Amino acid sequence: MPENALKSDKSSPIPEELLYSAEYAADPHAVHAALRATGPVHRIESPSGVRSFLVVDYEHARAALNDPRLSKDLTRLSKDLRSAAPELSERYESGGIISASNMLMVDPPDHTRLRRLVSKAFTPRRVQGLAPRIQQITDELIDAMEPKGRADLIDEFAFPLPIIVICELLGVPADRRADLREWSNVFITPAITEEMREHHRAVNQATLEYFAELIAERRAAPRDDLISALVTARDDDKLSEQELLSTLVLLMIAGHETTVNLIGNGMAALLRHPDQMRLLRSRPDLMPSAIEEFLRYESPVQHGTLRIAAEDMEIAGTPIPRGSVVQVCIGAADRDPAVFPAPDRLDITRADNRHLAFGHGIHFCLGAPLARLEGRIAFSTLLTRLPGIALENPDDALAWRVSGSIVRGLTKLPVRF
Ligand code: HEM
Repeated sequence: MPENALKSDKSSPIPEELLYSAEYAADPHAVHAALRATGPVHRIESPSGVRSFLVVDYEHARAALNDPRLSKDLTRLSKDLRSAAPELSERYESGGIISASNMLMVDPPDHTRLRRLVSKAFTPRRVQGLAPRIQQITDELIDAMEPKGRADLIDEFAFPLPIIVICELLGVPADRRADLREWSNVFITPAITEEMREHHRAVNQATLEYFAELIAERRAAPRDDLISALVTARDDDKLSEQELLSTLVLLMIAGHETTVNLIGNGMAALLRHPDQMRLLRSRPDLMPSAIEEFLRYESPVQHGTLRIAAEDMEIAGTPIPRGSVVQVCIGAADRDPAVFPAPDRLDITRADNRHLAFGHGIHFCLGAPLARLEGRIAFSTLLTRLPGIALENPDDALAWRVSGSIVRGLTKLPVRF
């Protein structure tokens, strides 16, 4: 990479393309380490002119995730920045369904109300009740792969497992899972060209129509699922129609696009560290700490945590003008040597692993208990049932997604067993 790409003093900020480049996808950790070495906060230079900053050290990242001056409300984006960033503007001005109407995109008191409405479905106790069904789905997926002796672990296992679970929890019929997978992939990919924005609008519309149909069905004939529960809350006037749709889309995306990468990134890390694989097989009691280490080592959400400065402020001495975008780089914070000794080492016995993979503060991931449970069942079952699992092409580089996606994950992971 050109050396000046990493200098980020006022004269040379980080070019935004760097964060969406193939070299960054291949090894973001080297970029993060170089940035961290020159300072905790870096200005990102975007062709759109949007003023944004990236926080790369643990201390300031953790503080920023829970700083009430950093708002989730995109309407606070300053006017000049808004006109320079059609994609961000469109998210709320067109009333698109991923607009500012779900808990991840609003501040208190709306955040408190919207989060409370769905939090009952995600308590550790409620989630634990899903364990037998998650185990059954896991076993069925392995039954289908096992006789072939080889598989693409992303396509045949890591993707379908969380999708089936979230669709069942929400109450989305199985026949539309393929569409939902495609739509949610579009939502996590920033639309940087007019053509992409056009496609986003079409997918927005299709998703809107599909969920509106499901809502009408559940209203006519409620069932024991999350859509029905939210429709009841809507009818009791506890949330608006827009909030109802937006919440469903948030849960669909969160349920699709993150746990798949806990499983995929974690398995890839284990397969490339045979000593850790052997240790985990001989000490299954280490599974909970192994899951936390997979989350730290290759955080599925790396730098997509948008916030807007609601007032002029400073982070680590860097002035952040009101209306600027602040992105917390979780991937960088989780390898900060000031907090994690030997941060680039995969160590499933790591103690005091206070990673930020699920965020921090009021927006801490609502689905964390579900993701952890799915992870534990997936890894335990894969390791027990496929004792000879190995990378199909151990000498090949891993196939990381590029395409400007805000999540870090593999497009494929060919294995044999
Ligand atoms: C929020 C990561 C799985 C639902 C978040 C945030 C992160 C995150 C980093 C906070 C973002 C921010 O502060 O800007 C992850 C990871 C997962 C995962 C790494 C898997 C390994 C899930 C699942 C669900 C879910 C399975 C639910 C089906 C949510 C929701 C929020 C959220 C609803 C918003 C919470 C709020 O704003 O109060 N997640 N997530 N997540 N996540 Fe997850």
